Amino acid sequence: MTAKMMLVCRVFQSMGFYSKHGKLTRLLFRFSLLLLICIVATMWLSSGRKSASYIGQHLFWTRSSNSSKLERVLTMVKLQPDYKPDAANLALLRNGSVRCRDVQSLFPNRIPPVIHWTNADQRVLKKHHKMLRSWRKVLGDSFAYMYWEDKDINKLLDLHYQSLRPFYQKLKAGIMRSDIGRLIILHHVGGVYSDLDVNLLRNISSFLLQYSAVWSQEPIEHIYYMYKRTQLLSNALFMTQARHKFLEYVLNAWPPWFQSQWSKKTGTLGDPNKAIHITGPLMLNYFFDKCSKSNSSQADCGELHLADPDEFQPIWDSGYAQNIAKNQCSKHRKTMKPVQIKHCDLLASRKFEMRPINRNVTYGVHRFLHTSYRVKYSFDKSKLAKDILPLSHCII
Ligand SMILES: *[C@@H]1O[C@H](CO)[C@@H](O)[C@H](O)[C@H]1NC(C)=O
Ligand SMILES: *[C@@H]1O[C@H](CO)[C@@H](O)[C@H](O)[C@H]1NC(C)=O
Ligand SMILES: *[C@@H]1O[C@H](CO)[C@@H](O)[C@H](O)[C@H]1NC(C)=O
Ligand SMILES: *[C@@H]1O[C@H](CO)[C@@H](O)[C@H](O)[C@H]1NC(C)=O
Ligand SMILES: *[C@@H]1O[C@H](CO)[C@@H](O)[C@H](O)[C@H]1NC(C)=O
Repeated sequence: MTAKMMLVCRVFQSMGFYSKHGKLTRLLFRFSLLLLICIVATMWLSSGRKSASYIGQHLFWTRSSNSSKLERVLTMVKLQPDYKPDAANLALLRNGSVRCRDVQSLFPNRIPPVIHWTNADQRVLKKHHKMLRSWRKVLGDSFAYMYWEDKDINKLLDLHYQSLRPFYQKLKAGIMRSDIGRLIILHHVGGVYSDLDVNLLRNISSFLLQYSAVWSQEPIEHIYYMYKRTQLLSNALFMTQARHKFLEYVLNAWPPWFQSQWSKKTGTLGDPNKAIHITGPLMLNYFFDKCSKSNSSQADCGELHLADPDEFQPIWDSGYAQNIAKNQCSKHRKTMKPVQIKHCDLLASRKFEMRPINRNVTYGVHRFLHTSYRVKYSFDKSKLAKDILPLSHCII
């Protein structure tokens, strides 16, 4: 159909330009008008048929929705003049001239190719240097790298998340502030958040193009035997588009929940070990469960992909996971789900030694170095983040 319309348009066009009869100017005008009508009609018809069409070099998905065909044509036409290939937009990011809240609009309909790390300041412990470098080794210049210090997060809160400020202020443990900080960074900018102790092994671009949000999960042994669940979002590594519905929901629902459950327990708010409950994985999973179970009136989390645990967290926390798994598998089989029992058998066959990493499955390895849990470090051999890899900045 589209091809036929284009053919008709061409015929009109050639008639307009090559007519040997008089009044050429009037003919030209008339045929130009017809040509214009043809083009609009062609776009209208083609927009209704295909779910994917190319704009520039970027694959743009128009979901089959109830919006009229005309509306969709207008959206496509509107996007086109602004479209630049990723490389040009990455150059803009590196140049530091983009506002943080505008980063998402440079990468429409995908998770922006930006890695975010957070830390108290520019100093990075030696054991993290290689891990930071691993990201650039794998992803090269197809990503931008951003590093957020406490002062940047404070500015982000002051300028864009004022209502969260008083609650954030009550958190005394650094890890708790970091937990909330990473949520607002991804909500505001979009991209990939990673802890400093994650080693990247493989290109993660397909996740960013395919999903609007991806959460890594804790190692399978943690999920099954420590938390006694079958799935568990981890906040050590996750990727989302800016203003994703799940983040929107969590950031709105967390303050009143925190106020009623935790804000009075002032001693607890300085205890890093309590972070998992208050600001970390268990808090996230509490809200995630609400939106997975609820009937839409309660919470809308949007689309959210849970990565397989082995994709980003293939190794357990050697501090305690082995003993817990051993203990659970020997004493509590009766109350376990079939998948949990099956995994016990696998572990038993390996004498409860850590499973080897399967590089066909694993994209990155979270190493559980727990550096945020300690208060004092020696930075003798430390380097600044900007000396480890080239960093980009956006305007907060
Ligand atoms: C689209 O149509 C479906 C049913 O055809 C309806 O349930 C839904 O509310 C509509 N969405 C919008 C945005 O109009
Ligand atoms: C950043 O980009 C802007 C606009 O393209 C340009 O005017 C400016 O000189 C660039 N700055 C740097 C530091 O490259
Ligand atoms: C990663 O994968 C994406 C999408 O397949 C590709 O465009 C990009 O060049 C890859 N990056 C590297 C550094 O190989
Ligand atoms: C919706 O949720 C309420 C409570 O959250 C529950 O009582 C009700 O049965 C649910 N309705 C459906 C259709 O699931
Ligand atoms: C990984 O993939 C390669 C090639 O498909 C295969 O030969 C190899 O056995 C796989 N390794 C594992 C551990 O599955």
